[in-house]
Amino acid sequence: MKLLAIESSCDDASAAIVEQNNKILAVKNFSQGQELAKFGGVVPEIASRRHVSLVFKAVKEVFEESATNFDEIKLIAATFEPGLIGPLLVGLNFAKGFAIAKKVPLIAVNHLKAHVAANYIENPELKPPFLCLVVSGGHTNIIDIRSFTDFRIIGQTKDDATGEIFDKIARRMGIPYPGGAVIDELAEKGNYKSFNVPCPEMPGFDFSFSGIKTWAINQIEKFSIEINKNKKLAEDLAASLRYTIITYIIKNLMSAARKYNKNKIAIAGGVASNSLLRKNLKVACDNANIKFFCPSKFYCTDNAAMVGVQAFYEFEAKNIASLNINARATGEKML
Ligand code: KG4
Ligand code: ZN
Repeated sequence: MKLLAIESSCDDASAAIVEQNNKILAVKNFSQGQELAKFGGVVPEIASRRHVSLVFKAVKEVFEESATNFDEIKLIAATFEPGLIGPLLVGLNFAKGFAIAKKVPLIAVNHLKAHVAANYIENPELKPPFLCLVVSGGHTNIIDIRSFTDFRIIGQTKDDATGEIFDKIARRMGIPYPGGAVIDELAEKGNYKSFNVPCPEMPGFDFSFSGIKTWAINQIEKFSIEINKNKKLAEDLAASLRYTIITYIIKNLMSAARKYNKNKIAIAGGVASNSLLRKNLKVACDNANIKFFCPSKFYCTDNAAMVGVQAFYEFEAKNIASLNINARATGEKML
């Protein structure tokens, strides 16, 4: 059975054609990153308007690339929560229109669940229960994956998300949006012991990053750190920040795995591309006899293929959406 999936929750417009359950026949992403760089971040109104044309373009290209015709599509899926409401509505309404025109069921997919499902694409042997860390521009969550559709958040950020922290600090150093990957590259050349970054203690498995952000901005101002002016200092600050943030995340994640007695850990979301996170978490998992899974970098970032894979599990669980369903900015409470 073939499915068409749409992702438009933030600044990436993406479409994919997926064959049950995790065979990706075609996937096309259009990122607005470069266009949004001149504003220093995502402008929801601009992103929504661009999605109107980019979603159509992505859909057209996946049909062409996979040589699929409309009648072969038996399900249509779209992200409906959480995310920016304007961008979400563009993709969801496209999917509703397709569902009505082609008389196929609509599957509304939660964005965090879709990120987790990115792991099944290249690791079909991975099956719940397991623990998943979702780290992106909008999220930092440790999630107990009880089944393909039943999730519980057991730890989360109480303020900024990890990707947001990297992007905002990068911006202050003169690095265009989204700066997370550039911070990662700079950090590879810097000395992580150069700065003593303060790290907060939070109850349970929660996180707080806003103190680190304020501290970093103060250092940037104090030493006039700018990528084009004093690269060495920028590299050292990036290395120290990356080391502190990633170590903090891994510490909470490993304690959660011990408490919940999990022998599998997966990661997902844009920040799951971070090279230190991938490297050090693999070592921590090997030492604790835990199996570690991570998607390739392409599937870490927002894409419709992961939406399509999760949609098949939702369909199997009989979670068919009503055509009256609305998009939601905050999403369901998975606590
Ligand atoms: O999942 P995603 O594509 O979109 C959201 O749902 O937010 O994640 C984008 C985020 C951005 O904040 C970006 O800077 C960050 O992922 N990111 C990274 C790396 N690559 C992308 N952060 C740290 N290290 C990286 N290598
Ligand atoms: Zn995302």
